[in-house]
Amino acid sequence: MVADRITELRLIAFKSYREVVLPISPLTILIGRNGGGKSNALDALQVLSRLAKGGEIRDALDGARRDAGPVRGGIEGCAPFGSDSFELGVTIRRDDADVRLDVRVQVRPQVQITYERLTAVIDGRRRTLLETTDPDPQRADIEARIWNNKRGRNPHVMFRATHLLTAQLPLRLAGKGAAERHVLEATDAILGVLGGVFHLDPVPQLMRQYVPEQDVVLRRNGENLSATVARLHRDGGTRFSELVAAIKELPEYELRSLGIGRGEFGEVMLAIDEVDSGRTVTVPARQMSDGMLRMMAIITALLAGGSGVAIEGPMTVSPTLTLVLEELENGLHPTQAANVLTLVKSARAEQGFQVVLTTHSPALLNALSGDDHLGVLVVDRERSTGRSRVTRLVDLPGYLAMMASGRLGDLISAGRLAGRSDAVVDSTELDRLLGIS
Ligand SMILES: Nc1ncnc2c1ncn2[C@@H]1O[C@H](COP(=O)(O)OP(=O)(O)OP(=O)(O)O)[C@@H](O)[C@H]1O
Ligand SMILES: [Mg+2]
Repeated sequence: MVADRITELRLIAFKSYREVVLPISPLTILIGRNGGGKSNALDALQVLSRLAKGGEIRDALDGARRDAGPVRGGIEGCAPFGSDSFELGVTIRRDDADVRLDVRVQVRPQVQITYERLTAVIDGRRRTLLETTDPDPQRADIEARIWNNKRGRNPHVMFRATHLLTAQLPLRLAGKGAAERHVLEATDAILGVLGGVFHLDPVPQLMRQYVPEQDVVLRRNGENLSATVARLHRDGGTRFSELVAAIKELPEYELRSLGIGRGEFGEVMLAIDEVDSGRTVTVPARQMSDGMLRMMAIITALLAGGSGVAIEGPMTVSPTLTLVLEELENGLHPTQAANVLTLVKSARAEQGFQVVLTTHSPALLNALSGDDHLGVLVVDRERSTGRSRVTRLVDLPGYLAMMASGRLGDLISAGRLAGRSDAVVDSTELDRLLGIS
């Protein structure tokens, strides 16, 4: 069986997006100029992931109670300027069929679902498994029809309008009969994939502390990195040596090994043995460089995979990991960009998870293979409307001619399409999209 994954994200009305469809590949790379909408698209993925956890929507998106805090801009910031609701959709692939979820959330005056539909391909036909009927904004509940594969209209079920309906389905259906089982299977698949979105946002400053040894599941900001590395060390498998090998590549001086130091109460802090003027010195995380710590968090997340990272909130189904990394190259020397990309690609291929990343790094873009280009999405703002647009790199007019004239990163950082002799292709639009002007 192929692991379930996200294949499409629909930004129907979300922040700077209207009616935009993002194709999502096993490795998706968002590029484009500042403020184009790359992070807004990732915010949408995070919103869907939080909704899938099944908590109350306001709390899920604005929640002060959560470790991760509110989504960027809060729940009201999700609606496009001048609008009171946002609307998103997602498709996941399970085996060779797919499951689609579409949802509209009103953010003002009250927070509630005003539309939701779940569909899946069953026995070769697309079926609507759940669809809301007309909502009554005065009520806190909402009615939906649930597929039963019988003649006539599907039966009504009442749901709370303050929570994602699909997340309430497992409690509403007993799983009796084939139709209900299909509905529950599709529900599990979509909640599992969405719930498995993990946005890693490592903050080096927070990693320079002792942490309890049992705190082994890596959190979003990487603050418990030392305990997750200690676990890889204890496990004694190849993953620890892979981490050490990757870290050794980073500085120009020699790193001997990676070890775990202990505090007064048995807490752990990772440490690196370095060679300094012929002597070995031990450098604890407290004194390590930012880039080194950040890289270590990224590599650890890649090696630990789905069970090793803290997918937020309650999960009823086992999640499939989608790792989201913003500005992968942050803090990294350009010579390391190709290495980190190789690590991402090999960990992804080995463990079958999905990676979505953004980058501004010419060195990283240079390191992409022709196959990787299929997952590159260029994000920009349409001049006349200010709305975000998304174009696959390979669909850009002039893509082939552009590739013949150099590597992607070089073309962008040189500010021109160096050596291009192909005068037939109008490169103005292409240059503008890629920020080459
Ligand atoms: N609710 C909203 N409605 C419409 N537009 C919005 C809304 N919220 C944010 N924006 C627009 O989105 C922009 C931010 O886009 P985003 O953070 O996705 O950029 P980015 O491509 O990640 O840029 P960078 O490379 O600088 O990180 C804001 O400057 C604003 O113009
Ligand atoms: Mg951004």
